[in-house]
Amino acid sequence: MATTRIGVIGGSGLYQIDGLQGAEWVSVDSPWGAPSDQILTGTLEGVPMAFLPRHGRGHVHAPSEVPYRANIDALKRLGVTDVISVSACGSFREEMAPGHFVIVDQFIDRTRARPGSFFGTGCVAHVSIAHPTCALLSTAAEESARAAGITVHRGGTYLAMEGPQFSTLAESRMYRDQWGADVIGMTNMPEARLAREAELCYASVAMVTDYDSWHPDHGEVDIATIVATLGANADNARALLRGLPSRLGPGRAPCPHGCDRALDHAILTAPEH
Ligand code: ADE
Repeated sequence: MATTRIGVIGGSGLYQIDGLQGAEWVSVDSPWGAPSDQILTGTLEGVPMAFLPRHGRGHVHAPSEVPYRANIDALKRLGVTDVISVSACGSFREEMAPGHFVIVDQFIDRTRARPGSFFGTGCVAHVSIAHPTCALLSTAAEESARAAGITVHRGGTYLAMEGPQFSTLAESRMYRDQWGADVIGMTNMPEARLAREAELCYASVAMVTDYDSWHPDHGEVDIATIVATLGANADNARALLRGLPSRLGPGRAPCPHGCDRALDHAILTAPEH
């Protein structure tokens, strides 16, 4: 049986995790450029962990500037099998309130200025992302969140926008009313696409910080609103992460959903090319 290694990509407010045994920040080289930062490695309850702050310590990379390919590649090179993405998001649903977590399972991609694939230029592949997140890993995240007393919603559609500005009111209403999006953020795409291409299980924990701009009682989103809930959300995220190793276990069977075999029938380029 292969060994589980849990990769965590921390979003706004989550720049490190605690409690790792043998904790060490390591530099990982990637042919796709430098990752967002060094990666914090160590073990939690005997399970190897690798934590990467998506925006870098000090929050230096804007969503459009995050080196998504280098980040996923670096985690893969460290032997990561499962990636938990943690990120702040706005909510389009009254019941998904600030402070709640949403384990999203679908994405609408409105980003437009980010390389979104490892393939092309000599090697062409088309992986399926009909189900872009891993149900098994999502269940572990959901159960861990519930055990930590966090209000968590299982399932939801995440609208990935380019940013860095927030949405207009017309966009916010359209995403919610016409497109059926549940939450909005700036970072889960192309991250989820790349994780699938790298044959990594990927689950996304979207932490609600605001109601974007559509909510008549909450006015428009601004950074002050977001920052006000980031601290509590980050503490809850750390509690969720502490519960993951015992749920995933040290040994890893093949993913029942096939995330770890996504390329088996995806590459079109002939091997001799
Ligand atoms: N991140 C947190 N809140 C957000 C929002 N309303 N729109 C986009 N990204 C966000």
